[in-house]
Amino acid sequence: MNTYEIITNRRTIRKFSQTPISDELLRKYINAARLAPSAANRQPLKYKIINNKSLVSEILKSVKWANYISPDGNPSKDEEPVAFIAVLADMSIQKDGYEADMGAAVQNMIIAAEADEIGSCWMGAINYSEITKLLNLPQNLKLLCVVAMGYKAENPRECPVENNNIKYYKDKNGVLNVPKRSLDDIIV
Ligand SMILES: Cc1cc2nc3c(=O)[nH]c(=O)nc-3n(C[C@H](O)[C@H](O)[C@H](O)COP(=O)(O)O)c2cc1C
Repeated sequence: MNTYEIITNRRTIRKFSQTPISDELLRKYINAARLAPSAANRQPLKYKIINNKSLVSEILKSVKWANYISPDGNPSKDEEPVAFIAVLADMSIQKDGYEADMGAAVQNMIIAAEADEIGSCWMGAINYSEITKLLNLPQNLKLLCVVAMGYKAENPRECPVENNNIKYYKDKNGVLNVPKRSLDDIIV
């Protein structure tokens, strides 16, 4: 697949195979994040790799999956992500205003993973204080989000938005359908 196809075919994955991902691969995706655009090139973001079963299990208690269809979007025990990458802001570099940097960095990370057929879920509906404690973060590092990762065990698909309803849903075959607004709708 070329880059355009990787970007347009990517869907958020919430069901994963239990095949491990090496730290080396996770470092590769963080390297993709490292080279993302950054406002004034300040590069305030830091990352933490969570790639051991017990810590992954602990973090899983503090995340919320697929709110529109909860609890139907929750992975079962044998579909859980095998790793997380936590995205952090180093407040000793920059005090606030990280959102655009975070968006660019996370997107680089998940597209690089997608190119290796690794699925991911960008997660913001998380218990920030619990995960901050679990990761034992120093004062200067603020948790921004976590990205769940693993080889894919589901195949969500894009579908058209109808009646302005953007809520994703599972069809009768259990496939997650993700409504996306049409090109004509978004070009003004
Ligand atoms: C900032 C942000 C936070 C998100 N947080 C969560 C989350 O906490 N839990 C979850 O299951 N999905 C989360 N998602 C994934 C979105 O639900 C998903 O991107 C959206 O439904 C569109 O699907 P797609 O990524 O397959 O195009 C988040 C996405 C973004 C960009």
